[in-house]
Amino acid sequence: MASYLLAIDQGTTSSRAILFDREGHSVAIAQREFPQQFPADGWVEHDPEAIWNTVVETCREVLGRQEVAAEDIAGIGITNQRETTLLWDRVSGEPLHNAIVWQDRRTAETCQSLRDAGHTELVQSRTGLLIDPYFSATKLAWLLDHVEGARERAERGELAFGTVDSFLIWRLTGGRVHATDATNASRTALFDIHEQRWDPELLDLFGIPASVLPEVKDSSDDFGRSRADVLGVELPIAGVAGDQQAALVGQACFTPGMGKSTYGTGCFMIVNTGEQAEVSRNRLLTTVGYRLNGVPTYAMEGSIFVAGATVQWLRDGLKLFADAAETESLASETSSGHSVYLVPAFTGLGAPHWDPKARGAILGLTRDTGIADIVAAGLQAVCYQTRDLQVCMSDDMSTPPGTLRVDGGMVANNWVMQFLSDMLGVRVDRPEVLETTALGAAYLAGLRLGWYRDLDEIASLWRCGSSFRPGMADDERERLYRGWLEAVARVRSTPA
Ligand code: G3P
Repeated sequence: MASYLLAIDQGTTSSRAILFDREGHSVAIAQREFPQQFPADGWVEHDPEAIWNTVVETCREVLGRQEVAAEDIAGIGITNQRETTLLWDRVSGEPLHNAIVWQDRRTAETCQSLRDAGHTELVQSRTGLLIDPYFSATKLAWLLDHVEGARERAERGELAFGTVDSFLIWRLTGGRVHATDATNASRTALFDIHEQRWDPELLDLFGIPASVLPEVKDSSDDFGRSRADVLGVELPIAGVAGDQQAALVGQACFTPGMGKSTYGTGCFMIVNTGEQAEVSRNRLLTTVGYRLNGVPTYAMEGSIFVAGATVQWLRDGLKLFADAAETESLASETSSGHSVYLVPAFTGLGAPHWDPKARGAILGLTRDTGIADIVAAGLQAVCYQTRDLQVCMSDDMSTPPGTLRVDGGMVANNWVMQFLSDMLGVRVDRPEVLETTALGAAYLAGLRLGWYRDLDEIASLWRCGSSFRPGMADDERERLYRGWLEAVARVRSTPA
């Protein structure tokens, strides 16, 4: 009997392949970073072949480990950076352009015009989203309009659109399957999350021909089989979810009111709202948390565009340290009362500001400000932004989460976790397995393949690694947070 599931986690800066056993332990992991391309101010692209090659290489690496035989693997779960938009030729499988990454702001003007024309209500009521360059719809329209001949070819049915999951499914199945799951579809701004179907009126609004769209499936479903000549073994692809929703599953947040925050390139706080698609009064998003047996579970989401990317920038851009692990001891050198703020609005501000034209800043510098203060400010920015989301969620939801489950690369940093708990004033729980995004994809595949009876069985596998409890005095917490709000007000392109 097979012992492992293969999870593919195609993230913004790297691709990972992880083998999980039935209890959710990761037994083998391979990771490859790939280049980020910044062709113009606010533009972010990925080479689709770099995405594909790093996925294939990492999968082959874990599958090639001596102790793993082909028959040991039950199937594949895929999770991915969401919204990132690809368009490819249905015959050759060749992409027509680089992938336009979720962080890319090139369609800011288009979005402004759509908002000015009064379309916000239509988009929000159908998709749970706002009109922002973040989502796939305007990126896809940009590709159709700017790649020579693309629109005509799309109208003739020659092209396929997909988020990264779709692109990987297409390639893994040798072009046999053009599909996505409901969580990824819910990030395109083309999908009616209530009716669970592509919305003709939105397709019309954004100028998208229906012929390019993938079929939308459950998050645990039959997505075809990987071709033996690609990974060396033919396996069923049985689970697919956008990375933040996969983390919700990996963190076993299956009850309304349970929430998680994932600190990867960005930070995404998602709270399960059950069968209710709750609408935020504070410009948070309503999204599909997962869909099983045709039934969607909804979630409310706060999306912060830059979290771990700040650490990457401090390391690679400013060269303030060589290894992200150093940030914990550097930040510990600062006094908690230091007043430097780093607002990492490199690609604008996400929730709750939605200001694509804002740009980053470091504020509050004095003659004695040192590297440690700037590093601490970068780490604290992530916590302040989580507090921004918490404030909105507390206003929006009858039962906002009383504790927060966290995951992603940054949560290994104990200093950040303590400051996060201090700033939120709630307990922060860090699970034993930090690869919760990939784990969620494996669980979704495992559900389909009969490894798990139901979500309760998955929930029983969740194990807390460490908890952080708030220890900061209320007046200090509020003083620091006020400083953050003032700093954000100074980088905004328009007044709040
Ligand atoms: O919405 C974008 C998100 O899916 C990217 O996640 O972990 O690659 O930063 P991550």
